[in-house]
Amino acid sequence: GVIRITDLDGKDHELDAVEGWRIMEIIREHGFEVGGLCGGACACATCHVEVCAKWVPKLHPARDEEEAMLDEVPILTPTSRLSCQIIYTPDLDGLAVKLVPQA
Ligand code: FES
Repeated sequence: GVIRITDLDGKDHELDAVEGWRIMEIIREHGFEVGGLCGGACACATCHVEVCAKWVPKLHPARDEEEAMLDEVPILTPTSRLSCQIIYTPDLDGLAVKLVPQA
């Protein structure tokens, strides 16, 4: 499967996705800057992305720890998520997210 990302310059990219990988890891493995400082422990919020609205219902809702970290991000969007808290599964084939500036 694939995921689609929009980078900070507004360019779209299609990335090969591997089942069981965190979206953060998939983005990082392809060489894009997505933070991930805490390694996916839901403790840094640098892996923040904006999820394309039509995909939001397909994702499990954010847990309390994730909500708490999202409160800390510099630029919060209505569909903000931490990309380390979304694990890629085949039903997310085509998932579209936008990278968000860290400040
Ligand atoms: Fe740190 Fe996602 S990588 S919260």
